[in-house]
Formats: sequence, structure tokens, C-alpha cells
Amino acid sequence: RKVSGGAAGLGPVVGGSLNCVSFSSGVCWANSVERKIYIPLNRTAPCVRLLNATHQVGCQSSMNGDTGVIHVVEKDQDLNWVLADGPHPPYMVLLEGELFTRELMLRLKGTSRVSGLAVAISKPSPPRGFSPGLQCPNDGFGVYDSDYGPQYAHCNWTVWNPLGNGLSYEDFHFPIFLLEDANETQVIKQCYQDHNLPRNGSGPEYPLCAMQLFAHMHAVTNTVTCMRRNSIQSTFSLSPEVVCDPLSDSNVWSTLKPINASRKMDPADEVVIVATRIDSHSFFWNVAPGAESAVSSFVAHLAAAEALHKVPDALTLPRNIMFTFFQGETFDYIGSSRMVYDMERNKFPVRLENIHSFLELSQVALRNSSALWVHTDPVSGRNESVRPQVRALVETLLNSSLGVNVTLQEVSQSQPLPPSSFQRFLRARPIPGAVLADHRAAFQNRYYQSVYDTAENILMRYPEGLSPEETLDYVTDTAQSLAEVATVVARALYQLAGGTGNTSAIQADPRTVSRMLYGFLIKTNNSWFQSIIKQDLKGLLGDEPPQHYIAVSYPVNTTQLVQFVLANLTGTVVNFTKEECLNPERAPGADKEMYDYTWVQGSREPNSTSRVPFCVQSTVHLTKALSPAFELKEWGSTEYSTWTESRWKDIRARIFLVASKELEIITLVVGIAILVLSLLATYFINAKAHVLFSSPGDVAY
Ligand SMILES: *[C@@H]1O[C@H](CO)[C@@H](O)[C@H](O)[C@H]1NC(C)=O
Ligand SMILES: *[C@@H]1O[C@H](CO)[C@@H](O)[C@H](O)[C@H]1NC(C)=O
Ligand SMILES: *[C@@H]1O[C@H](CO)[C@@H](O)[C@H](O)[C@H]1NC(C)=O
Ligand SMILES: *[C@@H]1O[C@H](CO)[C@@H](O)[C@H](O)[C@H]1NC(C)=O
Ligand SMILES: *[C@@H]1O[C@H](CO)[C@@H](O)[C@H](O)[C@H]1NC(C)=O
Ligand SMILES: *[C@@H]1O[C@H](CO)[C@@H](O)[C@H](O)[C@H]1NC(C)=O
Ligand SMILES: *[C@@H]1O[C@H](CO)[C@@H](O)[C@H](O)[C@H]1NC(C)=O
Ligand SMILES: *[C@@H]1O[C@H](CO)[C@@H](O)[C@H](O)[C@H]1NC(C)=O
Ligand SMILES: *[C@@H]1O[C@H](CO)[C@@H](O)[C@H](O)[C@H]1NC(C)=O
Ligand SMILES: *[C@@H]1O[C@H](CO)[C@@H](O)[C@H](O)[C@H]1NC(C)=O
Ligand SMILES: *[C@@H]1O[C@H](CO)[C@@H](O)[C@H](O)[C@H]1NC(C)=O
Repeated sequence: RKVSGGAAGLGPVVGGSLNCVSFSSGVCWANSVERKIYIPLNRTAPCVRLLNATHQVGCQSSMNGDTGVIHVVEKDQDLNWVLADGPHPPYMVLLEGELFTRELMLRLKGTSRVSGLAVAISKPSPPRGFSPGLQCPNDGFGVYDSDYGPQYAHCNWTVWNPLGNGLSYEDFHFPIFLLEDANETQVIKQCYQDHNLPRNGSGPEYPLCAMQLFAHMHAVTNTVTCMRRNSIQSTFSLSPEVVCDPLSDSNVWSTLKPINASRKMDPADEVVIVATRIDSHSFFWNVAPGAESAVSSFVAHLAAAEALHKVPDALTLPRNIMFTFFQGETFDYIGSSRMVYDMERNKFPVRLENIHSFLELSQVALRNSSALWVHTDPVSGRNESVRPQVRALVETLLNSSLGVNVTLQEVSQSQPLPPSSFQRFLRARPIPGAVLADHRAAFQNRYYQSVYDTAENILMRYPEGLSPEETLDYVTDTAQSLAEVATVVARALYQLAGGTGNTSAIQADPRTVSRMLYGFLIKTNNSWFQSIIKQDLKGLLGDEPPQHYIAVSYPVNTTQLVQFVLANLTGTVVNFTKEECLNPERAPGADKEMYDYTWVQGSREPNSTSRVPFCVQSTVHLTKALSPAFELKEWGSTEYSTWTESRWKDIRARIFLVASKELEIITLVVGIAILVLSLLATYFINAKAHVLFSSPGDVAY
């Protein structure tokens, strides 16, 4: 998070290289130094520092940014120049996306000849796959440990993300930026080609093209250290300087049948929980497209919620259904661990004892020959009282896929659960549950938690030449396939909730799925999202592909959009005025405890510039997704997530030409000389001012 207020940046004089603009222009040499103009890079994303209980990971620059001569590395051999041969270290490496591997990064880490790195995003995505996440995501925070299924701990049984190179969890002592725009990369390469290429066997001549990256981080060491510093500061300082913030946001939840949110549920009431995560991550800050790792599954979840709300007997089912969207799961299950914590402490309307069963949608978009795998927990499955319920749950799921183009299959009953929010519930209580995924063992997703987990990764393709409105509604094969998954989930939930009617009428709408995929992966600024958000939140919408990083200021875009979409799909339009909608206690027939009311801006009428706003009544709620470790001030917790994000003041990148060190020193010396001279002159003029500037009137005759 950027520190608010304060100086936005430091002047060029204190930067890594000297700059003649800062001296009076007369000092500048009549050569290239004069043309040393900064070109800011406008489309970049930095790697920032994150901390947990014991480590710091990520990147940072020195206080005033790091500077180096640019060297473009397009193949492995180009690295020799940087690591050994080049005469002008330190170097700023411009790396092709495919070469951004663990092996190469460890080589760069081990040298002092590198001052920073800019990674060009590769298009198309690297064919070998790329995942900067861990091979065993969220290890140690799930259910398996030395007491619970020790043979499954630390992914001993299945390595879920074999392509994970763990780069996101390494600590780098130099800045690393992503170049998101091919044109900007080209500008840098051109500058490199014009100035830095070795010529005729000898090294290149000054001036050279250089890059400067600013990404200084305030927090160091680990969360324990930075949180302690925060709390000392806030105790003793009037203007405390916070150095790190816990990653936190909000979970979104709603129920099929409205419940009184300010009261605990009756112990006899049962609820079926359906869950997905809504956040993702990549090596770079706030770059988290998460198409397969988050979006596809929460979109299927939303579509299932819509389908269930249309069922005629939805409100008379014996059990309730709770739709739950967890935030921050990427970072050791922030959202789910908080909800379990709240349930255990009676701070949530639903108690753990009310949970009848649990169904989680994990990654579901990359189905191989329509297969969808049912994962269950082998350890709780051995409990005599839980086993029959798990079997019934699995049977229900298998039955629900009849007549739908989804082949549900059970994985071996001795295989552990993949990383999932459900594991946090199992830690608390042996709840019957299952996780649905498109993978049997290792992930299908070859770009887990990377910048390449985009719409292309889940094979979303639109025909050429569609208008934005047509694209919004165009049903891709991916949307069709996710709608089928949603249909299965909705039918299974209906039966789990005790529904006895015919399930073949329950059907998820492929058009809704298409619109959601478009909105959450391609462009949030579309006519549908425009019509369903609150008027004062227009800033949520943009024309860039949205990112799903949890961040530290809540609620983030994704959370709010999921909230509005869920309200639109499951709520009803009520005939309230704006006044009544914003203050439902004044509205006749409103029920503030059971429902949430949102005044949305509505769609634009054809041929008109104005919108027709209306009031939506839904059961959608937000609840805090801040790790209990911070609630308990246990910053060294191994039970709960301890991830924090450092604060920073200034993040930016620029390129410019540097003169040789000698020339810079001469510039500096001359600059200082002139400064001294002018100081002397000023002093002299000051001292003799009465003589020099005395007005004629003062002169005594
Ligand atoms: C913190 O993160 C590092 C790097 O991923 C990891 O090795 C370490 O086990 C983590 N510490 C805790 C307490 O989870
Ligand atoms: C790059 O530049 C070309 C030509 O100036 C332009 O057509 C294209 O849209 C630009 N690409 C991006 C991603 O800005
Ligand atoms: C970034 O934007 C500035 C101002 O619009 C422009 O001068 C500069 O050339 C841009 N940078 C690149 C690399 O295109
Ligand atoms: C490189 O060498 C060639 C022939 O020896 C010469 O014509 C050319 O000017 C040289 N280029 C530079 C940049 O020195
Ligand atoms: C909801 O619960 C509160 C607190 O128990 C109670 O005062 C209120 O009447 C309840 N509302 C409804 C609609 O049941
Ligand atoms: C089985 O689960 C129930 C709760 O569902 C629990 O009370 C019981 O202790 C468990 N039995 C074993 C052997 O763990
Ligand atoms: C939220 O969306 C807007 C519009 O796309 C964007 O400018 C802003 O950076 C986003 N915020 C975050 C935290 O991603
Ligand atoms: C969103 O799109 C509308 C046109 O539909 C446009 O007028 C508006 O400027 C866009 N907003 C943003 C933030 O790009
Ligand atoms: C949902 O959005 C659609 C399209 O904007 C609108 O027609 C419909 O009335 C909305 N429904 C609710 C319940 O908000
Ligand atoms: C909505 O409410 C207004 C006044 O509160 C009333 O005049 C109007 O007829 C109502 N419309 C519908 C469709 O009930
Ligand atoms: C909108 O304007 C177009 C042309 O200006 C006209 O043909 C059309 O009938 C109008 N539609 C409505 C709903 O007024």
C-alpha cells in the first residue's frame, strides 16, 4: 500500500545518477548529457514486499531507486554479459518472459552485478507453463499435519502444483517490475539497441541507456517485527508511521432462505454451505487475473445461486443453503479461517453445528473430456458417523450429473483433499463435504497464480468483429461448459437441502455465465455491471481486465462486484424510493435484519442519457476477512495466516541516457564550483550591499 501524504518522490538530484537539469543550465555540457531526458514507463507492475510470521518475500529497491545500464536478455547466453563480461555493472536486465525461471533468478540473486530486473510479459503465454506459486500451496495451514493424516502432510501424497517454482515466495534484494505493454518494451529495446549494443567487438561507448526502478519498502524482516513497530508507533507517536498492513478484505455470503443476521441460528436448523475463493495472486502487485484459479469457479457458483433462487420451492426446503465467497484464500486461507473463527465464537449467525454439509468448487474450467472430479477427505471419511453422510453426498453429486454433459468421477478414497477452504472447516469439526475440481491429482492449470492465468488460459475465444454489447452476451464454449458445472452443483444442492421435486428443471443460464466471465475477466465497465452497481461506485469499473488481489484496503473491486452480481442474480426489485432504500427502517414492509437493500443505478434507456435507478432486496452480506492472528495480536501464529504487505512511498520506473562516471564527476565538480562561486558572490554582494545598492539619497555630501 502506498503511504498517503508526504513527498510523492525525490528530486532527480538524489537519484542514482546525476542529472544536469538540476543544475543551472549553464553548467551543462554541450553534448548528450544535455539530452538526458527521463522517459517514464507508464504500464508497469512492481513486485512488492510481503511478510509472514517468519520471513519477508518479494522485492525492493534502495531508498532512492536503483539504476543500471540496460541489458536485454533474450536467450540464456545473453546473461554472460551481465554476469561476467560487461564493463559497466551494475546492469538492469530486461528479461523475456519465457526466461523468468527459478534457475535464472537464483543466478541473478547471487551476483552484485545486477541492480534490477524488468520482465517483459510474454505473448503468447510460455508453452511450458509458468507458476510462481508453491508446489504445495498453503502448506501447513490446511487440515493435514502431524496429527491429522500425517501421511498427507506437506503434499507427501500428491504434489498439487508441480509447475510451481516458488518465485513469489523468494526474497529479492533488487527491484523487479513487469512490463505490461509491448510498445513500452519496444521503446526500451530501441534505446538499448541505439546505445548499449557492443560495437566492433569493443564495449559500447557512453552515453548508455539506463533504467531506474523505485520500489523502496518500509517493512523488513517479518510480520512480528513490523506489527510490533506499528504498535509502538501508535502508542508513542501522534502521527504513527505504519510500516505494514495485514492483508484483509471481506467475505461475501448470502442464504437461499433469508435469515436474521443479528441473531444466532437455531441449533436445530441445518445449512448446506457452498463455497469458492474469489482472490488470486501473481508475482507482481495487483496483477492477479486468476481466470482458472478463482474466476471460473466463483462464476459457476454465482450461476448455481441464480438457478436455485428460481426454483419454486426454494423457500420451503427443509435446509437452508449458504453461498459463501472467501477472500484471501491464496494467503493461507484468510477468509475461511476467519469465518470458522467467528462461527466458533458465536460471532456469526451460523454456527459450525448448523452445517449439514459442505460443497466447494475449486478450479473447474479446464475439464478434460468433460470430467469433473469429486475429492473427499480420507481421514474424516474413516469416522463411523461421518462416512455415511459423505457417501450420501457423493451419491447425490453423481446423480445430479445425469443428463448433463459433465462426467462426475470420484478420486481414490485414499487421496487427500486438494488445497481448499473446506480444510479450514475440517480442522474445526469433521463436517461431511466434497471439493469439485477439474483435476484428479495435479492441477490442470499450468499458470496457477501467475500473470498468464487469463481468459486465454480457460480458452475463452470470441469471434472477430463483435461490438462490446454482443461480446458481453456471446456464449463461448467455456461459458457453456461452466453453466453445465453450475447446473450439476445447483441440482446437487437442491437435493442436499432436502428438495424432493424434479431436478431436471433446475438449469443454470449460459448467458448469465457469459456475462460474468466477460465482466470478471475482460472488462468490468460493461452495460450490465454499470446497471447493477451503486451510483457512487462508478470508480469500480474500468476498461482493463480486472485483477483479483486481496490487498489491504477494503472492500476491493472484486468483493464489491461479487456482492452486486450476487444481489442482482438472487435478489428482487422492490418498489422503494431512494430514501426508503437507503433507510429501510423507514420503509413499510422492509426488514432490515433479514435483508440487505441496495440502491442501484439501473440501465440506460435507449436514446436517453439518464438511468432509471431502483432498489434491490437481497440476502447478501459482507463479513470481515481479516486473519484471526491480527484479532488475537498473535503475529507469530502458525495456526492463522500472518501475511502483511509493506507500505511504500514511491513506485515508478523510467529510462534515460547516462553519461560516463568521469563526465558525471566533472559535471558535479563544475556544478559545485559554480555553486561555491555564486555563494561567494552572494555573500560579497550582501556584505557590500550598502555600497552597491545604496540609493543616491543616502549618500552624504
Ligand atoms: C513464511 O513464508 C516462507 C516463505 O514461503 C515459508 O518458508 C515459511 O514457512 C512461512 N512461515 C510461516 C510461519 O508460515
Ligand atoms: C502499439 O503501437 C501500435 C502502433 O503505434 C498500436 O497500433 C498498438 O495499439 C499499440 N499497442 C498497445 C498495446 O498499445
Ligand atoms: C509515458 O507517458 C509519458 C507522458 O504521456 C510519455 O511522455 C512517455 O513517452 C510514456 N512512456 C513510454 C515508455 O511510452
Ligand atoms: C566498425 O568497423 C567497421 C569496419 O571495420 C567500420 O566501418 C565501422 O565504422 C565501425 N563501427 C563503429 C561503430 O566503430
Ligand atoms: C432478529 O433478531 C433480533 C435480535 O434477536 C430481534 O430483535 C428481531 O426481532 C429479529 N427480527 C426478525 C424479523 O425476526
Ligand atoms: C466422529 O465425528 C463425530 C462428530 O461428527 C465426533 O463426535 C466423534 O468423536 C468422531 N469419532 C471419531 C472416532 O473421531
Ligand atoms: C478498481 O477498478 C478500477 C477501474 O478498473 C481501477 O482503476 C482500480 O485500480 C481498481 N482497484 C484495484 C485495487 O485494483
Ligand atoms: C465506461 O464506459 C462508458 C461507456 O459505456 C464510458 O462513457 C466511461 O467513460 C467508461 N468508464 C471508464 C472508467 O472507463
Ligand atoms: C439484474 O440486472 C438486470 C439487467 O440490468 C435487470 O434487468 C434486473 O432487473 C436486475 N435484477 C435485480 C434483482 O436487480
Ligand atoms: C410503487 O410505489 C408508488 C408509490 O410508493 C406507487 O405509486 C406505484 O404504483 C408503485 N408501483 C408498483 C408497480 O407497485
Ligand atoms: C431511438 O432513436 C432511433 C433513431 O434516432 C429511433 O429509430 C428509435 O426508434 C429510437 N428508439 C426509442 C426507443 O425511442
